[in-house]
Amino acid sequence: GIDIPSKEPNKLKYPTEGFDSDCTELNTCEIDSFLYEDDDIDALVEHGMLSRTYCPTCSSRDTVPLNFISHSLSRLQVRFIFDKLMPSTVQHVLDIGSRLGAVIYGSSLFTKGSVSTVGVEMNKEYVEIAQKVIRQFALRNIEILTDDIRHLAHVFKDNQIIIMNNVFSFFLSKTEQEECWEFLHQNMRPGTILIHHPPIEKVVAHLNLSFDIDTWLEPVDTMAECEEYGGGCQETCEEMEGLVKYIVQETVAEQA
Ligand SMILES: C[S@@+](CC[C@H](N)C(=O)[O-])C[C@H]1O[C@@H](n2cnc3c(N)ncnc32)[C@H](O)[C@@H]1O
Repeated sequence: GIDIPSKEPNKLKYPTEGFDSDCTELNTCEIDSFLYEDDDIDALVEHGMLSRTYCPTCSSRDTVPLNFISHSLSRLQVRFIFDKLMPSTVQHVLDIGSRLGAVIYGSSLFTKGSVSTVGVEMNKEYVEIAQKVIRQFALRNIEILTDDIRHLAHVFKDNQIIIMNNVFSFFLSKTEQEECWEFLHQNMRPGTILIHHPPIEKVVAHLNLSFDIDTWLEPVDTMAECEEYGGGCQETCEEMEGLVKYIVQETVAEQA
């Protein structure tokens, strides 16, 4: 059992000058190390009996950590795709949902413009930013289209790598997401390499799709590449593992 730290009335005089004078009764938690070691404090926090944070507006200590989510890949993840995950036979790069353009810039830079890169982004403001960057840095062999991927059947090619970083879930309704996946299932060419962040299974689990993801996409083991890139750093290795590589399989005609 864990005892809650004493709630005795505070008899301390908080310093008003010099060292520790940033501490006030509101923003300070007094806890004797003699009684509670770091592990005990962790346990108290975990059990919701003690808070490490408070709200500076209302002074409440009943706070919870925020979720942090990125809507773009990190620079290292982008480099990893073109260094380690893209086979040398690829001639076309397609980035679905380009946002700030992280993936398409990387594609042009890390392949030295040797493959054709197409980005698709339905939000016009983002496309304008990307176009400016492409012009400013004279990036080669890149095109970015302002449209919804569902209108762009012609961007799918043979010998293609497609990169998708959690494209639909924060931006479209459930029905629209289902339509997008049905469209991708219809249009990606067999043999296409798909790099998806995070694992696809996670983002489609709640959707009703007419096909089976496991039959459509065959995962490729990239553990060795992730470990090599991590160079002993577990955190980097895990960051790379978030990028899952699949090969699009031949669509088998449904039996009537
Ligand atoms: C999470 S961001 C990915 C950013 C970028 N690929 C990266 O990794 O840095 C997803 C983007 O996809 C766009 N998007 C969502 N649904 C789309 C659709 N059906 N067609 C085109 N773009 C779409 C959103 O506007 C958003 O900018």
